[in-house]
Amino acid sequence: MALLEVRGLTMKFGSLLANHDISFDVEEGSITGLIGPNGAGKTTLFNCISGAYKPTAGKVLFAGSDITGWPPYRVARLGAVRTFQVVRPLNDMSVFDNVLVGAFLRERDLTSALDVAECSLRFCHLEDYRDKLAGNLTIGLKKRLELARALATQPKLLMLDEVMAGLSGAELKEAMELLKEIKAQGVTLLVVEHVMEALMPIADKVVVLDGGVKIAEGPPREIVESERVIAAYLGEKFSRRLKELKT
Ligand SMILES: Nc1ncnc2c1ncn2[C@@H]1O[C@H](COP(=O)(O)OP(=O)(O)O)[C@@H](O)[C@H]1O
Ligand SMILES: [Mg+2]
Repeated sequence: MALLEVRGLTMKFGSLLANHDISFDVEEGSITGLIGPNGAGKTTLFNCISGAYKPTAGKVLFAGSDITGWPPYRVARLGAVRTFQVVRPLNDMSVFDNVLVGAFLRERDLTSALDVAECSLRFCHLEDYRDKLAGNLTIGLKKRLELARALATQPKLLMLDEVMAGLSGAELKEAMELLKEIKAQGVTLLVVEHVMEALMPIADKVVVLDGGVKIAEGPPREIVESERVIAAYLGEKFSRRLKELKT
């Protein structure tokens, strides 16, 4: 069953068509990747789904409701929560308090909010940093904090905008494991990512945007062999390396 349905979504900035007639489904319990070159319209699409922008045309259906044009707090309450490509933690607050803010979206009393925050913090392996000021974290840890804060809202759909960018080898492996664990918890994921080596092995399906248009959609295996996707985004080098890995 589809948890999220994007139907003919179009977003114009003046004469610029950042998203043009985009349609796809995100199946409940899956990891769906959203890829494409810079400027393809990925973040704009996230903004349209999460309510930061009101699309020019088209519909967004989530968990059976037409959420098109809803404000972000209503979309989040219904269970679709996103992280930001440019991380924005509350810098003057501790790591724990940042996560606690997320927990308060759904929890009314302090005790249960503290429980949920604690749980998210541990899940994301941030317990050693709990009392640190968020502003003092490295970029990798700030990204993980974004994830913990989003998880503390207890989302149905988690939309991640380049959470693996800038991570090194070991951190990348850890992040991939974390996403698989989040999926195992029953959370559906829509993941914008440039790190193909990290995304492709964990994605159930990949949607490819180029110039605001959806140019491909399918399982990773098909996507990495699509000539159109290779030409627009992946490049020959990537597909050759992938073939070498397979043989
Ligand atoms: N708020 C905005 N106002 C005007 N143009 C925008 C705005 N946000 C994005 N754009 C433009 O929309 C296009 C898609 O951008 P974006 O969605 O950020 O792409 P991606 O995330 O795939 O790199 C780009 O040409 C970008 O300059
Ligand atoms: Mg972007």
